[in-house]
Amino acid sequence: MQPKYQIQSFEEYQEKYKLAQENPEGFWAEVAEEFQWRKKWDSVCQWEFKTPDVKWFDGAKLNITENCLDRHLATRGNKLAIIWEPNDPRDRAIRLTYRELHEKVCQMANLLKKFGVKKGDRVCLYMPMVPELAIAVLAIARIGAIHSVVFAGFSAHALADRINDAQCNMVITSDGINRGNKQIPAKRVVDEALKTCPSVKTVLVKDCCGWTPHMEEGRDYWLDEEIETMSRVCQAEVMDAEDLLFILYTSGSTGKPKGVVHTCGGYMVYAAYSFSNVFQYQESDVYWCTADIGWITGHSYIVYGPLLNGATTVMFEGVPTFPDPGRFWQVCDKHGVNQFYTAPTAIRALMACGEDHVLSYSLDSIKVLGTVGEPINEEAWRWYHIHVGKEKCPIVDTWWQTETGGIMISGLGNHSPLNPTHAGYPLPGIQPILVDEKGNEITENEVEGLLCIKHPWPSMLRSTYGDHERCRITYFSHFENMYFTGDGAKRDKNGMYRIIGRVDDVINVSGHRMGTAEVENAINSNPHVVESAVVGYPHDIKGQGIYAYVITEEGCPNNENTRAEIVETVVHEIGKIAKPEKIQFVSGLPKTRSGKIMRRILRKVAEGTADNLGDTSTLLDPDVVEEIKNGYIG
Ligand code: WTA
Repeated sequence: MQPKYQIQSFEEYQEKYKLAQENPEGFWAEVAEEFQWRKKWDSVCQWEFKTPDVKWFDGAKLNITENCLDRHLATRGNKLAIIWEPNDPRDRAIRLTYRELHEKVCQMANLLKKFGVKKGDRVCLYMPMVPELAIAVLAIARIGAIHSVVFAGFSAHALADRINDAQCNMVITSDGINRGNKQIPAKRVVDEALKTCPSVKTVLVKDCCGWTPHMEEGRDYWLDEEIETMSRVCQAEVMDAEDLLFILYTSGSTGKPKGVVHTCGGYMVYAAYSFSNVFQYQESDVYWCTADIGWITGHSYIVYGPLLNGATTVMFEGVPTFPDPGRFWQVCDKHGVNQFYTAPTAIRALMACGEDHVLSYSLDSIKVLGTVGEPINEEAWRWYHIHVGKEKCPIVDTWWQTETGGIMISGLGNHSPLNPTHAGYPLPGIQPILVDEKGNEITENEVEGLLCIKHPWPSMLRSTYGDHERCRITYFSHFENMYFTGDGAKRDKNGMYRIIGRVDDVINVSGHRMGTAEVENAINSNPHVVESAVVGYPHDIKGQGIYAYVITEEGCPNNENTRAEIVETVVHEIGKIAKPEKIQFVSGLPKTRSGKIMRRILRKVAEGTADNLGDTSTLLDPDVVEEIKNGYIG
């Protein structure tokens, strides 16, 4: 029962690629035929990248959850939709069939309606990786509301910013979060955030830890109690293809995170198409993506992509190293995982714990391995290939972004040539190009350039929430008629792409995007700090770490205490994921005469390659560079 759009060989890939390039509309219309629409589209794609204004399947009507759930009931009603593996291996896994998941989504949808959530309203989810998170995502989509999932590692301050930007009227959370041997108070963070979020009228609280948090009368309700009496039937709201499906905040080069907007029809088609092809999912397979639903990977490849294909998707509450670094592999054996998708940073962290933890599991169910989120180094690739894949499984190195909605460049299961550290070839329908600084296309192979996309694809972002101009400036103003990714890439002699990394002021810490300006704003909010500059530096496990140069006020002791205070401020403002690894106190920053910080210099120092600083003659105060070099923290 593989969908018609699943590619079966490299030759077929090449054919399809050509077809999609010559006739994108015809190609995507054929793929879209495989879905359940309430009404078909009037036009397949209308677009211009100036504004930008992109529409896919305009005029069509659908509900994505009918495609994720209802459509499968006749043939897959008793098939497992979700296998939930708890944080603690001694606790019981939860298995939900498509029929059960459908009922639970309907119940949750009815509960949302009872609390007055309507089509177009925004609902914020700040939750651990429990089944209710996936259920809530789908329930929100079912009634035509818009979900904004905020990763539950963000601080109250960061959460409040996101709730306010989207003007959410409901938050769904839990009392606490089980993570390894720790329990984290989620509800307390929400309470703190809501002090400054007047739009929120209701908070639903899932019991995950058995705690008794503060419950605000008339605002906070226990999810489990409320949902019990809800009907298991709920008609899906009929949506236009271009109605908003979700908002997901991501970091960019400015201080304020932006709400990337995805819409119903195109996102559905591409999430499903890319899932089926990249992972080569077969009907009885068990698929596991270890990401958190708080990131785009969890949206597209834990929830929507797999469910749209009627797949069995594993959801994991815990962490890779609890109770020991064999946890991932134990779960793979326990549930017979066939496709395993994780991040290079997790592989490197487990690699550092030694082979024994992986060698004690058979892993013989695994057919396809995947990575996402950052470039994978050759050593980690080999370790993954040899010890996890037993040298018999392809590794799909999937390049994509929150903004692209789905995987753009990647191998397709075992149908593509393997080339460690190379994401490979673009999926059919995706037209990447490399350009130079001026936007001129570089057409040859064995070159390096800025990675852009020259034709729209169904799951591309449509806007940045509440500020369309920002979307234009960030992605469509650098080069005419192209989407600019912010990444640099190489193309080898065979036309395979190798992603080098960000060329803008975004750093990638453990596969999480952080804007340097965002971290600087957080650091600067510490009262001792006068000014700061943040850059990334190579980090063995995290890929990149955060290196901060900080100027403190007169009289402030530049010691470990102050460092700890600054770190604390960042944790308070953003969350633990943005903790600077190294803080160097400086008396000044290298600036040009026009006052611009020369980050190139700061990056070189942080990378430990300061002997070769290039031209510093435009600096206002060259002495400061000597001081910075001398104070380098190695
Ligand atoms: C980086 C994650 C190299 C890239 C899905 C991109 C990668 C950013 C890869 C998006 C990969 C993602 N190889 N780099 N396979 N996948 N990236 O929005 O810099 O969290 O621009 O989406 O991660 O991060 P985001």
